[in-house]
Amino acid sequence: MTAPIVRSLTELRAMVFEWKANGETVGVVPTMGALHQGHLSLARAAKEGCDRVIVTIFINPKQFNNPEDYEKYPRTEEEDAVKLGPLNVDAIYVPDGPTMYPEGFATTVSVGGMTDVLCGAHRPGHFDGVATIVSKLFLQSQADRAYFGEKDFQQLQVVTRLAADLNIPIEVVGCPTIREEDGLAMSSRNLLLSDRARVWAPELNAAMQDMADGILAGGDVAELRAKAVARIERAGFTEVEYLDLRACDTLEELDAPTRPARLLAAAWLAGVRLIDNIAVG
Ligand code: PAJ
Repeated sequence: MTAPIVRSLTELRAMVFEWKANGETVGVVPTMGALHQGHLSLARAAKEGCDRVIVTIFINPKQFNNPEDYEKYPRTEEEDAVKLGPLNVDAIYVPDGPTMYPEGFATTVSVGGMTDVLCGAHRPGHFDGVATIVSKLFLQSQADRAYFGEKDFQQLQVVTRLAADLNIPIEVVGCPTIREEDGLAMSSRNLLLSDRARVWAPELNAAMQDMADGILAGGDVAELRAKAVARIERAGFTEVEYLDLRACDTLEELDAPTRPARLLAAAWLAGVRLIDNIAVG
């Protein structure tokens, strides 16, 4: 059996009202669909942590800085509902464009500072789009907890910041990155890779793992970075947008792991932009 698909905000609000009246806790898992095991792991964590779970599916046009990327983003609603069936989530919220951005919509939520770097520097407007839609989903669902993947590490920091800054009474829970057996981080965008590119894709994570080991062994970050970039490009990637060692909380760049640190990367493979990040130490 699949969970009920809810398309209207009025219907969603009525469900949540009833759950809350019964003293039940509510978890929300925001997604853009094309669900894979990474998304499903968030839904499972939400089921464990909350009495009721809403998975949202909305391909948010405002967070795509490239219209072609938006057009070719995979849309698989029926399969998504089937995948969620065995997890017994309570609702799949699939609002349409006008529900999220009605005529006259004029508000943007913008998180300063940490959105100027990494993906924020390479995708102008992306995090404003994310922050705006996530704020709306938090307020629409009135959930007690929201589940996000560490796969999108910068996004996780941005949504944690906005919930705190805007006093939205929701706990943001970060969940580990789920990977394919060869180390490639699961992503809806992996569906866009050709068979050949799919074979090369795990080199990104492999090079990052080696770089992290080198850093922990006391190696020079800049030298290790140059070596890792060369390896990624040799594997067939056309461009490494960034490959940085940064502080987990503020995303400041580090030249040694003197505090909790992560390696974060974005790189292009056969026209597909892949991102990944791993803890260092
Ligand atoms: P989407 O890319 O569909 O991802 C939805 C959620 O799944 C995010 O929290 C993301 O970090 C998580 N996720 C993706 N791949 C994962 C993996 N391999 N392991 C663990 N978690 C993973 O991120 C978005 O959508 C959008 O920006 C959204 C937050 C829905 C706002 O539109």
